[in-house]
Amino acid sequence: MKAETSLLFSPSRIIPLIKPFAKCNSRVHGVAHWARVYRFGMLLADALGLSEKERLVVALFAWTHDLARNDDLHGREHAKEGADYIRQISCQLFENFPEDILDITSIAIKYHSHGLNVEEFLHEFPLEKSAAWPRASLLNVWGCCWDADRLDLLRLNIFPDDSRMSTLYWKDILPLAAKLNKKTDMLDKPNLDEQDDENSWFV
Ligand SMILES: [Fe+2]
Ligand SMILES: [Fe+2]
Repeated sequence: MKAETSLLFSPSRIIPLIKPFAKCNSRVHGVAHWARVYRFGMLLADALGLSEKERLVVALFAWTHDLARNDDLHGREHAKEGADYIRQISCQLFENFPEDILDITSIAIKYHSHGLNVEEFLHEFPLEKSAAWPRASLLNVWGCCWDADRLDLLRLNIFPDDSRMSTLYWKDILPLAAKLNKKTDMLDKPNLDEQDDENSWFV
């Protein structure tokens, strides 16, 4: 029997269903990372007052954006593959997953490793504006997805780069991200100058 989409909001029920689709067993980009991205994403969604449909995109992104990774190396291949992979997954797991939500989540996954904030992304890839939702809604949902993922860069000793973040609220979630990753010391000394620019897309 196929699942209801509401399961995406229940970590303990969705994780066992999603985990078998992961192409590698990653410690850095695995279940614990997805769960933190989900948690940060939902907090950002609360702050922005996202609708139920918009929250579905953020939840689906959190659980699936790194499933196509074959390893923990740098690179965007998993993002490109992951954008198609969620269609297979949603077909197998869910009954009639709404097509617009799949489209918008697929774009969020495809470009999540480009290191762009959403404004920059819409400027560089204007064709993606043809996604079915209004621009304001896309800014919010893609911003929640990417900021939630980038907040978890702290686990790798990387401080999120303000210029690559999209929402106004990511700094409010930063203390929680630092606490969950045991990196509260990083909040005082971000050391952004010493960070390798390549790292900012290691998500
Ligand atoms: Fe990723
Ligand atoms: Fe990620």
